[in-house]
Amino acid sequence: MDMNFKALTALVISGGTLLASCNNNTAPKEESKDSTATAATAGPRSFGQADGQEVLQYTLKNANGMEVKILNYGGTITDIITPDKQGQKGNVVLSYESLDGYQQKGQPYFGALVGRYANRIANAKFTLDGKEYKLAANNNGNTLHGGLKGFDKVVWTATPAGDSSLQLVYTSKDGEEGYPGNLQATVVYTLTPDNALQISYKATTDKATPINLTNHAYFNLSAGKDSTILGHELSLKASKYTPVNDKLIPTDKLDPVKGTPMDFNTAKKVGADIGKVNGGYDHNWVLDKKDGELETIATLYDPTSGRFMEVATTQPGIQFYTGNFLDGTLTGTRGGQKYVKNGALCLETQHFPDSPNQPSFPSVILKPGETFAQTTVYKFSVK
Ligand code: GLA
Repeated sequence: MDMNFKALTALVISGGTLLASCNNNTAPKEESKDSTATAATAGPRSFGQADGQEVLQYTLKNANGMEVKILNYGGTITDIITPDKQGQKGNVVLSYESLDGYQQKGQPYFGALVGRYANRIANAKFTLDGKEYKLAANNNGNTLHGGLKGFDKVVWTATPAGDSSLQLVYTSKDGEEGYPGNLQATVVYTLTPDNALQISYKATTDKATPINLTNHAYFNLSAGKDSTILGHELSLKASKYTPVNDKLIPTDKLDPVKGTPMDFNTAKKVGADIGKVNGGYDHNWVLDKKDGELETIATLYDPTSGRFMEVATTQPGIQFYTGNFLDGTLTGTRGGQKYVKNGALCLETQHFPDSPNQPSFPSVILKPGETFAQTTVYKFSVK
């Protein structure tokens, strides 16, 4: 693995110390009008209001000029600005001009933190310790991405730490969206000196609950130059995936990818075999890695711009989704771009879908006294 995780860990630990001493209430609310102002003096930008609270956009920067912009609304990544091989900077994630875009009906989770349970739970219910819990059926009779008002649609408490780190905290009440237990979730975004965006998630609860947290960024490494990602080259270190029924619920089998369109062990163009997959890719791959260890498990390359992204995670699975439901109709998009089918792709590091109902899958139950933790890193370069 080529990421320097010792350096990363040191940075995150020092970030934690900074977080403790930083008071969000005193942060300036407007971006400085003085373009020569340093990052340290530029505060978050006002981005509207949600649930009677101010929505702010925070900017993380590093010495290479890479920037990541994040909202306290949904912990949403609005911008990941990286250079192409010519040094021209561009935003590699799909985004909207304003908060209205993020709040429109059917908004497909652009850049958001997804929880309390990312992905699907079959028939919008599960049984835990002999008790049945009912959830919102917001996707073909199943629950998707936390229900009607998941973690993507709430305002988090944001605390920046210097230029390069932002901590977000959200307390989800016992019974919220049908889930048991008061759950405190903390997510820290850190932009490292070597152009990696680390997302570290932690959560605790006072009653046993299922949990699955991820980020739903839609990547298009051409930064708006190519309308689709079909020419991007993807690799996934996974020899198995979880096949699904017609409602995208895993069947409980782990099928080998060898000899199928699902095989990305050697990098290939996303468009190479997509026509052979009904509806496009929207599946969970079972990662070939040791559980809980941070390992690089995916790479994505856009030959035209030269942008290269490596994904490392501690999670056992990844949902690779090729924007099959994008159809060019979303409004308020950045620069008025049409986000067409396959206009971007998601690499959502996660536990397997429907795990609360699938005893053979790794457990997703968090108990009182335990801490849920997941770390995912998206690292950018050119070649
Ligand atoms: C996830 C799902 C997809 C789709 C998107 C949002 O990635 O797996 O089926 O629902 O979210 O549109």
